[in-house]
Amino acid sequence: MTTSRSFSTRAIHSGYDPAANDGALTPPLHLTSTFVFETAEAGGEMFAGTRPGHVYSRISNPTLDLLERRMADLEGAEAGLALASGMGAITATLWTLVSPGDEVIVDRTLYGCTFAFMRHGLARFGVTITHVDLTDPENLAAAIGPRTRVVYFETPANPNMRLVDIRRVSEIARAAGAVTVVDNTYATPRLTRPIELGADLVVHSATKYLGGHGDLVAGLVVGDAETVGRIRLEGLKDMTGAVMAPFNAMLILRGLKTLSLRMERHSASALAVAQMLNTHPAVASVWYPGLADFPQHDLARRQMALPGGMIAFELTGGLAAGRETMNRLGLIGRAVSLGDAESLIQHPASMTHSTYTPEERAAYGISDGLIRLSVGLEDPEDLLEDLEQALPRPALRRQSA
Ligand SMILES: Cc1ncc(COP(=O)(O)O)c(C=O)c1O
Repeated sequence: MTTSRSFSTRAIHSGYDPAANDGALTPPLHLTSTFVFETAEAGGEMFAGTRPGHVYSRISNPTLDLLERRMADLEGAEAGLALASGMGAITATLWTLVSPGDEVIVDRTLYGCTFAFMRHGLARFGVTITHVDLTDPENLAAAIGPRTRVVYFETPANPNMRLVDIRRVSEIARAAGAVTVVDNTYATPRLTRPIELGADLVVHSATKYLGGHGDLVAGLVVGDAETVGRIRLEGLKDMTGAVMAPFNAMLILRGLKTLSLRMERHSASALAVAQMLNTHPAVASVWYPGLADFPQHDLARRQMALPGGMIAFELTGGLAAGRETMNRLGLIGRAVSLGDAESLIQHPASMTHSTYTPEERAAYGISDGLIRLSVGLEDPEDLLEDLEQALPRPALRRQSA
C-alpha cells in the first residue's frame, strides 16, 4: 500500500524495521528451503491456511516476502509475488488466469519469448490469442468479447517502443469483465504505475532495471491480494514451480535502493543519445518517448514520469549498416538484456525476437533493420563518442585549395 513517504524513500525502507532484526541495517538473507513447525498441529494449520507462517520456500520465504511487499508498495498494489524469471512471472500469471475456451487479447508487439509463450504455448491448450493494435484503445473496444479473459501488453513495448494508454485500455477491459495485465519492465514503477491507472496486474522481468546490475534473472507480479494469492498457489506452487532464489531477492532489494537515481540517469543519458541519433545523417528513424517528434509524445508525457533508458532506431543503410555499426562499437556491449549499468545493443530480428517468423515480424511491427539500445549509466559523453565513431560517416567532400 502506498504511504505518504516518497517513492525513493520507500524503495529504501518500505516494509523493513532494523529493530525487529537485531538492528541489522540490511535485511537478513533467509537461505533455507524449509521451516520447522513448533508442533504437528501448527504445521497442519499452516497447510490448511488457518495459521500464518512459512512452510516451504517454493511457497514463501521471509526474504522474498520483504521484496514482494516492497514492490507492491512501489507499484501501489496490495500484494506481490517473486518468481524465478520474467517469463516465470508471465507464465505463472497466465496459467492461473486462463482456461481452455478463453481468449487473450495481446498488443501487436510483445517481447519474443512472451510472444512464443502466447502463440506457441497457451494456444496449444485451447486458448485463443488475438493480436490487436492497442496503440488505439478503440481497437480493443471493437475486438473485445464475452470470451476475453485477459488483455495483455507492454508499454513501452519491446523492442519498438510503442506505448499503450493504460487508463483507457484498462477501462475498456474492465467494462467487458477482462483482466488487464501490463508488463512494466521497460518503465519500472519509477516512471509508470499501471495499477494506479486502472490495470489489474503488473508483471516484471526483474532481471532488468529492478535488479539493475546484470547479475541475476528474476521476475515479479503485483496486483490485488486475492489474485496474487491464487497465482502463488496455482501458477507458482503447482503449475511452474518457478520460485525466486532468496539470494536474488536480496540483490533486487539492493537494486531497488538506487532505482530512482538510476532511472533518472538512464533517462537523461538516453535523451542525449536519442537527440544525437535523431540528427545524424546515417540514421533513418529513432523511437524514443522523450523526443518531441516521437509519435506518441503526448501519451508519453501523461503516462511516464521520465522517458526511460531504451531507444529503438534504424539506419538509412538498413540491417547491414546496423550490423557494421554494432561491430564497430568499443564501449557499448553487443548483448541482449537491458536496464544494466552497462550500455547494451542488440538486433531484435535475429536475437530477442527471432521467435517470430519473418512474416510475423512484418505483421507485428518489428522491422528487420531495427536496432535496440539500452542506455546504461556510463558517462553520456563516452557513449556519444562511441556511437559517433561507429555510425556510418557521410561521404567526405574533397576540400579544394
Ligand atoms: C519486456 C520483457 N518482458 C519479459 C521478459 C522476460 O524476462 P526474463 O528474461 O527475466 O525471463 C523480458 C526479457 O527480456 C522483457 O524484455
